[in-house]
Parts: sequence; C-alpha cells; structure tokens
Amino acid sequence: MNEPLRLQKFLAQCGLASRRHAEEMIRQGRITVDGITITEMGAKITPGMQIVCLDGAPITLEEKPLTLLLNKPKGYVTTLSDPQGRPIVTSLLHGITARVFPVGRLDLDTEGALILTNDGMLAESIQHPRHEIKKSYEALVRGRPTGPGLSRLEKGIILEGKKTFPATLVIVKKMPQSTLVKITIHEGRKRQVKKMFAAIGNPVLSLKRIAYGQLFLGDLPTGAYKILSVKDLKKIFL
Ligand code: URA
Repeated sequence: MNEPLRLQKFLAQCGLASRRHAEEMIRQGRITVDGITITEMGAKITPGMQIVCLDGAPITLEEKPLTLLLNKPKGYVTTLSDPQGRPIVTSLLHGITARVFPVGRLDLDTEGALILTNDGMLAESIQHPRHEIKKSYEALVRGRPTGPGLSRLEKGIILEGKKTFPATLVIVKKMPQSTLVKITIHEGRKRQVKKMFAAIGNPVLSLKRIAYGQLFLGDLPTGAYKILSVKDLKKIFL
C-alpha cells in the first residue's frame, strides 16, 4: 500500500501546482477527498486509496514531466487566469496539452526567461531559498549608477525592513540618458530588481530576465518557448 502523504505534497507530485499553489487551492475549498472538502493543511491521504478531486474533477497522476522555457513578452501575466482579462503566458504555449504552470513570477511589464512545468517537485526546488537559484536580469535603468550605488546593491540593502542578499552587477552599456546593467540575484521578492535600483536613485525603465543559473534565454524569440532537456534542467542549478 502507498504511504500516507500530506495533501499538498500529493497535489504537487501530481504536477498540479507547486506546493504553495496547492495550499492556496486547499484553502480556497477547491479540493475534496472522498467527497469531503478539505481546507486544513494537516490532512493526509493515501494515494491510490482515496479519490481526490479539484473543482469536482478527479485528479489523475499520470502526466509525463514536462518543463519549458518561455521568452515571456511584456503585457502577459504569469498567473493561470486573470480576473482583469489580460493575456496569460500559457496562451503562448501552442501545441502543449500538459498542465504546466509558471515557476515563480515576472511582472506584467517584465519580459524574458520564464520556466513553466507540470512537475511540482521541480518547481519547488527551483523556488526554495535553500537552493539559491541565481536569476540574471538585464535592467535598463535611468541615468548612470554610481560606484557607491552599485556597491550598496552588491553588498545588500534594506528593502522593507529586510536586507537583500549580495548581488552581482555588471555595467553592460552606457547610453547618454540610461545604463544597461546585468544583475544577478538569488532571491525572489516581489519587484525586487526594480526596488533595488529605485533605492539607489536609478529607476528601472525596462527589465528582462536572461537566465536561471546557467540556463540562458539565448536567441529564443520573444513569445516562443522550448522544451527543456535533462541537461538543460541541470544548468538551472549551476
Ligand atoms: N524583479 C522585478 O522587479 N520584477 C520582475 O519581474 C522580476 C524581478
């Protein structure tokens, strides 16, 4: 017999969502086990012995793990639905029937590398702070960041009462009114890069994520995606 498993872990293993998304679904009362709505986090289920439903539909385990890298265009939201009716990233995945979901988020006006997967465990390990997955961005910022400003960001600054972890910054291109800076961080706080540059007086004009770890966007066109191989997946953790 299968070992009992916490409900949110089961949902993540089914590839339905990351564990955090799964917890949200449970809290929202969308999950039933043997017909009973479960809204508490402590519940355990025995896979194969109980019927788990999402919005009334039974959840079946078998979907092959699939992970994609999308070059997200500006103007798309990274949630699976949007009450305001804005375009969602999964609408760009022509030909993909697996239920992939975005790993983490990018702002509406941020473009670039976005991983989507149906593998809840992989999503979780990419997002877990313990793994310190590096995320690199090209930020076009207003003006010219000063040496002291850049070294403040490199060492860490206080944002909303909490110090940021050290970052790596490289000036890529200087223009008369703006500067292109490559910044690598391993945290995922909301609007972190924009807040960091705003804090040194050089607000972000546009932002593009170019890599997770050593997995680079390369020449993937805007709006296009590619399926990641096992070799690609390993690069995320480098
Ligand atoms: N930092 C931001 O400010 N925005 C993003 O979309 C990603 C990182």
